[in-house]
Amino acid sequence: MTNTGKSQLTRRQFGWAALGVGAAGALGLGWAAVEEPRWRRKRQYDAAVQPGVTGANSLEAHAAARGLLYGAAVDPGLLDVEGVAKGHSTDAYTHAVAAQTGILVPENAMKWQALRPTADSFDFTQADRLMRFARLTGKRVRGHNLCWHEALPGWFWGTANKENARRLLSDHIRMVAGYFRGQLQSWDVVNEAIWPQDGREDGLRTRPWLELIGPEYIELAFRAAAEADPQTKLVYNDYGIETEQPEEVQKRAQVLKLLHRLKDRGVPIHAVGVQSHLAAAGQQPGAGLQSFIREVGAMGLEVYITEMDVNCRGLKQGPAGRDAAVAEVYGNYLDLVLAEPNVPMVLTWGITSAHCWTNQLDQRIQRWADFARQRPLPFDDDFNPTPAFWRLRGALDGRNRE
Ligand code: XIL
Repeated sequence: MTNTGKSQLTRRQFGWAALGVGAAGALGLGWAAVEEPRWRRKRQYDAAVQPGVTGANSLEAHAAARGLLYGAAVDPGLLDVEGVAKGHSTDAYTHAVAAQTGILVPENAMKWQALRPTADSFDFTQADRLMRFARLTGKRVRGHNLCWHEALPGWFWGTANKENARRLLSDHIRMVAGYFRGQLQSWDVVNEAIWPQDGREDGLRTRPWLELIGPEYIELAFRAAAEADPQTKLVYNDYGIETEQPEEVQKRAQVLKLLHRLKDRGVPIHAVGVQSHLAAAGQQPGAGLQSFIREVGAMGLEVYITEMDVNCRGLKQGPAGRDAAVAEVYGNYLDLVLAEPNVPMVLTWGITSAHCWTNQLDQRIQRWADFARQRPLPFDDDFNPTPAFWRLRGALDGRNRE
């Protein structure tokens, strides 16, 4: 995975004409005023388009009806926050996010690279933008992330050394988690710390944090986060632990051992994030993941599905077949994980394929995908629901059903 690159796609502006609803053109794409439903904490922002998938038909509403949270990763730069503040927006991305989600996570805006232009300054502009949008639309927000080996700013590599790294990490966490204190549902405190390929017995990734600080950097990060924001849930987040492929089975086992070590030492941790970047081709998640979720449940931890998307790399089918295969993975995967009572939340990594990392030109998945544009999310490039939308919504409905 690379740590560079912004979405190559420009923001899309949609009006009624673009959506083929010419007669309503004079009205603009405004927020429909409807009776306040109980599941909506603030105002109702549904566009008066696609009534089959908004309001009580949205992912947010279906999740809430089952006591679950659905959400998505967003790019605050694409959100029409000013429009929403004025009570009117013509932006389709903004509508989709407002109509479908109960919780947001910044795709990049809370990473070191975004927040730390220099070693001694912080820039919260984009993160603040997201928080403002969330307040205006009544969304919760989760933080991502405080400690990762990627998305570190250029200056970091010339500045961090064994003498100052502890201070650098704990100061960053104190400052950032302190800044958002009391406002976030959860924080991904440490991201992707397990990497068995580095050859250590404990499975820990070596560069850069372990080499700079030692294995105790993980505990240090969680303790600093707990001090800075005692209310929020603290999460260890990782990927490549979902399927039965040998390297994923091995990685999952190492993650479990890490969690046991942290719990044994009384480290404040509340949940595990299973990223869930899945592929429609090849081996699918199954009993191994189910036991993992149960075992971490027995340790008193929740499991969040934090970054779900399903790529179609290597599939031979045409467009409809690919969509169906992606949707099938959504359904099967979410049926599996949502059957576990300690899984209260599902986020997709984006909401529309118009803006998603698997279609970013610098991503490996995009380059290897026999040049097909990926459709890995509940909405397509034109903001129509994909087959995955219906399977995702159906899986939310299936929670707790006999
Ligand atoms: C990705 C973003 O989606 C991209 O825009 C960025 O260029 C690289 O990072 N696991 C994570 C996320 O925890 O932060 C990554 O996000 C995707 C993989």
